Amino acid sequence: MLVAKTKKEVRDRVRAWRQKGDHIALVPTMGNLHDGHLSLIDLAREHAERVVVSVFVNPTQFEPGGDFERYPRTLATDKRKLTRAKADLLFVPDVEMMYPFGTADATVVSVPKLRDDLCGAFRPGHFDGVTSVVGRLFGLVLPDVAVFGQKDYQQQLVIRRMVEDLHWPVSIVSGGTVREADGLAYSSRNQYLTDEERRVAPVLYEVLQKLGRDLQAGRREFAALETEAMATLAGKGFSPDYVAIRRAMNLEAPDRDTDQLVVLAAARLGSARLIDNLVVDV
Ligand code: PAJ
Repeated sequence: MLVAKTKKEVRDRVRAWRQKGDHIALVPTMGNLHDGHLSLIDLAREHAERVVVSVFVNPTQFEPGGDFERYPRTLATDKRKLTRAKADLLFVPDVEMMYPFGTADATVVSVPKLRDDLCGAFRPGHFDGVTSVVGRLFGLVLPDVAVFGQKDYQQQLVIRRMVEDLHWPVSIVSGGTVREADGLAYSSRNQYLTDEERRVAPVLYEVLQKLGRDLQAGRREFAALETEAMATLAGKGFSPDYVAIRRAMNLEAPDRDTDQLVVLAAARLGSARLIDNLVVDV
């Protein structure tokens, strides 16, 4: 596997591949790779001859007082996993290269409305940070395809909207959520959980599955369902930020006849903030 750190290194490598007629897929990550990330690399390979994985812990998407400092950085292990997963190129930029004018004076890419909803309401500035860094990664790598996980449902919709609105010639592909045997979605933040919290954590997905069953059974009092689910989470020791039933397509409020729904939840458990979601096709 090749490694690129500078703008010139990544551009030269990608240009050489493109001249040979290869297509390029990009899998953006913040590293500390797990099976969820690795599934996206497999998916990327189905869409392009060359797979580029970026590892960059992006400071601008962490809210003040967030976990930027303690976010796990495990580059040596990540490299071994990427080599085994047969990634073609690992791109590890640094903050100075990504943000040549500094993070405070950086050009911001911002998707209105969507960025302020759900997770955006609890993490001010988060989605502006995500779109601003993904936009930069697209500019540096110029991928044909970029792959994102449905685990971060709102993120993947924000990025789809950004690409469509800015006419970027990148196809966005979404990969399904990979889970541990007990249902907990893989996340780098799971390691903030104590043993006891880790035992409780699968309840988040259980609550979403219960909501899915209720919706399939015809229940449509969305607000009551959300409140019940929040109460269940609180009863198990979570501090829920939100549980929401929305239209899968655009996260807008559903009506009784909406058949493509998504249930989304974010909740703090100990010092970890966990998110998950489930698409419900009724
Ligand atoms: P990170 O949390 O490292 O996630 C990188 C990619 O992996 C995202 O597309 C995310 O949705 C996906 N992913 C995470 N957990 C997953 C799981 N259990 N199953 C499947 N896919 C999963 O998301 C980010 O980084 C950043 O916001 C980024 C897009 C890189 C911008 O900085």
